[in-house]
Amino acid sequence: MDYFRYVKGRLHAEDVPVEDLIEEYGTPLYVYSHRTLERHLEAYSSAFREIPHILCFAAKANSNGAILRLIARRGGGADIVSGGELYRALRVGIPPAKIVYAGVGKTDEEIRYALGKRILMFNVESGQELERINAIAAQMNVTAPVALRINPDIDPETHPYISTGLRKHKFGIPIENALQYYRLAKRLGNIEIIGVHKHIGSQITKVTPFVDALQRMLVLVESLKAEGIDLRYLDIGGGLGIQYNDETPPHPRELAGKLLPILKGQDITIIMEPGRSIAGNAGILLTKVLYLKRGDDREFVIVDAGMNDLMRPTLYDAYHHIAPVRKNRRRKIVADIVGPVCESGDFLARGREINRIEQGEYLAVMSAGAYGFSMSSNYNSRPRPAEVLVRDSEHYVIRKRETYRDLVRGEVIPDFLQ
Ligand code: LLP
Repeated sequence: MDYFRYVKGRLHAEDVPVEDLIEEYGTPLYVYSHRTLERHLEAYSSAFREIPHILCFAAKANSNGAILRLIARRGGGADIVSGGELYRALRVGIPPAKIVYAGVGKTDEEIRYALGKRILMFNVESGQELERINAIAAQMNVTAPVALRINPDIDPETHPYISTGLRKHKFGIPIENALQYYRLAKRLGNIEIIGVHKHIGSQITKVTPFVDALQRMLVLVESLKAEGIDLRYLDIGGGLGIQYNDETPPHPRELAGKLLPILKGQDITIIMEPGRSIAGNAGILLTKVLYLKRGDDREFVIVDAGMNDLMRPTLYDAYHHIAPVRKNRRRKIVADIVGPVCESGDFLARGREINRIEQGEYLAVMSAGAYGFSMSSNYNSRPRPAEVLVRDSEHYVIRKRETYRDLVRGEVIPDFLQ
């Protein structure tokens, strides 16, 4: 459910016609709806109200400072995977006590930074990482709070590139070795074991994989208890899917409906790390039709947003709905909607049926609020789009469009080439 809809045939973001935004800010343009973000956050907090929980927004889904600030203001935390994300989260006032840090490749500098800031916990992904964190904590004379990220070997039945919780994946510690690693952690003098973590994948559209994974984790929690290791936090990761096309993903309420009965009576705080289900349908990408061209067997609609702005279609063959900014009743065409980048893989949609569109008109790429801007690049030396946040009838630039000067910032020409 989101707040992008047509009013008298014109696409609106909340109460603002997106044509007004285009006129003011140009294209390509990311537009986010404040009301939608709030609604999605509220859906989680009311669904899980009955049990102690912390919502740690997955900053990788959308790391814009204004969006993270909104999360902070709503009492949320952050799931981070790099020093850069830690910096972004702290900068906008997300409390360190609500920051959890995952990722298989944390560097010494990143570990030091996070320890110094006293984050809630490290979600540790290997034995060597555990030992490294212990050694750095010892040097700093602090204790590192950790959870082990357990790979529960559950198939989330999603796209293979965004599935993470199977034995073959690089993430986490295989569940059958979990006890052994917890024992190792217990022996390390500068590690405090406080939790357990799992994340099985993304864009999961069924509840069952979440239930199965949680049950496996709770068995582990019990065995740890028997060994005298009492956990305070159970981090169930993110991964709840959204509707891009005809998926029917569960509402957080349905997820909670299945998870809460299993969790009741557990004296443990739940951490959740949703990303896509908070931001995905809260953002769209607006783009201008530059040219139309007839290919041998298809039509090309060439637009000014490319794979560098939104990588998901080419990277995962992901479906994003494409809607005209102004509704029309023209005849249908089947087209490839492609960007200006010099790659055949530069498309936003292929073989898509849309109403005929004319040069100079605008299209909206829907469901682009998560893993859209955050995965964008400057490939082909294309400045990245501006980002705008709409709140009711107001709109705010939350990231300026990049300039050519931004493109070369940091580049140095050595003296011998002067
Ligand atoms: N927690 C951890 C440890 C993660 O690795 C992720 C996502 C999340 C939470 C958030 O998952 P979400 O609720 O957003 O599904 N670029 C891909 C998605 C990659 C997801 C990576 N990890 C895409 O555009 O579909």
